[in-house]
Amino acid sequence: MSRAELRPLTEDDLDAVLGIEEVVYPFPWSYGNFRDSIRSGYHCLAFVEAELPTAAMYGYAIYMDGVEEAHLLNIAIRPEFQRQGLGRRLLGRVIERAAAGGARRLLLEVRPSNSGALNLYRKEGFIELGIRRQYYPAGAVREDAIVMEKAW
Ligand SMILES: CC(C)(COP(=O)(O)OP(=O)(O)OC[C@H]1O[C@@H](n2cnc3c(N)ncnc32)[C@H](O)[C@@H]1OP(=O)(O)O)[C@@H](O)C(=O)NCCC(=O)NCCS
Repeated sequence: MSRAELRPLTEDDLDAVLGIEEVVYPFPWSYGNFRDSIRSGYHCLAFVEAELPTAAMYGYAIYMDGVEEAHLLNIAIRPEFQRQGLGRRLLGRVIERAAAGGARRLLLEVRPSNSGALNLYRKEGFIELGIRRQYYPAGAVREDAIVMEKAW
């Protein structure tokens, strides 16, 4: 795990990505959501062990550029590798890249019910900016999103 590194996510990775996505989220992104993100030129990053095949992917992150800001659209770590510091490392690498690309802050949305992710973001210095009402699908009703940012 010490050799975990980032590389661009390609369409060839999407079976492995969906294998993670469909386990970690109650309302996962579709194949098309990932494919469109890649084709739109969003920053789509695979977090992998340097010398192991795609099946050993630890996780992935997707963010897009705005004006002097970046927006985190997805971040996930494969369940068997969670709670080992990889999510923190991956988020840190996203922040480094976004900053190197000229962003002054990283924005994201998170479900209020996603206490693990909320803890991660708070520990990494994100603050809550507000609420987007009924942002997420959640069955019959929709769930609000907490909007968070980390500025630098
Ligand atoms: C959120 C996620 C990426 C965190 O990845 P991870 O590798 O498990 O996180 P880390 O091990 O780096 O944890 C960093 C900190 O986050 C918090 N945290 C992470 N998972 C947590 C959980 N299940 N419960 C409570 N706190 C949690 C802890 O404060 C942790 O620090 P600690 O281990 O020192 O206590 C991972 O849980 C995941 O993929 N979840 C499903 C997808 C998702 O919800 N993504 C976020 C969408 S907004």
